[in-house]
Amino acid sequence: MLATALHYSHTLLKEVLQPGDIAVDATMGNGHDTCFLAELVGRTGHVYAFDLQAQALENTVTRLAAAGLTNRAALIHGGHETLSQYIPETQPIKAAIFNLGYLPQSDKSVITLPATTRQALDALLLRLAPRGRIVLVCYYGHAGGPEELASVRAYCEALPQEQYNVLNYQFINQKNQPPILFCIESKPV
Ligand SMILES: C[S@@+](CC[C@H](N)C(=O)[O-])C[C@H]1O[C@@H](n2cnc3c(N)ncnc32)[C@H](O)[C@@H]1O
Repeated sequence: MLATALHYSHTLLKEVLQPGDIAVDATMGNGHDTCFLAELVGRTGHVYAFDLQAQALENTVTRLAAAGLTNRAALIHGGHETLSQYIPETQPIKAAIFNLGYLPQSDKSVITLPATTRQALDALLLRLAPRGRIVLVCYYGHAGGPEELASVRAYCEALPQEQYNVLNYQFINQKNQPPILFCIESKPV
């Protein structure tokens, strides 16, 4: 069976992340991706995870503790657009993941937004290691979702092919707006 966008996002991360790497979960939510990244970077790597909601941090603290991964992640109670304040420009980042939209079973008014998503992408591109990947899974069925999807698509399409490979993965015959995936991969210099 073809993988869902969510499942494929993990395949794309798994292909590049190795023990010792630095990774970013730009939308922590309940911490599923933070835990996944923490497993992949191993004891010598580190994950920076961002979210605006205190509930997201609480849920992620619990999830990391249950998996014995607490020491591998820095949980930042702030937007991904503040990434530059936490990660120096000289620190290569091997992979980052965004799950754009709102946190299910939570405050649906807290959604990711085009301007701050772009700001975070700009900061990540400055730090992206050669062959590093930024994966975006865009949920767009909510108010504001189509605008953010259009913004992400335009951002990705404008990236120079000399520097980046950009992938778009989506099912085109499914109802209920299944998420659409983009992956930006930095070409080696
Ligand atoms: C679709 S959920 C993420 C789900 C998460 N990957 C998981 O494993 O549960 C989107 C999350 O983005 C968060 N968010 C919204 N704006 C944000 C921003 N500017 N920076 C970081 N997180 C943000 C929301 O609070 C929400 O928790």
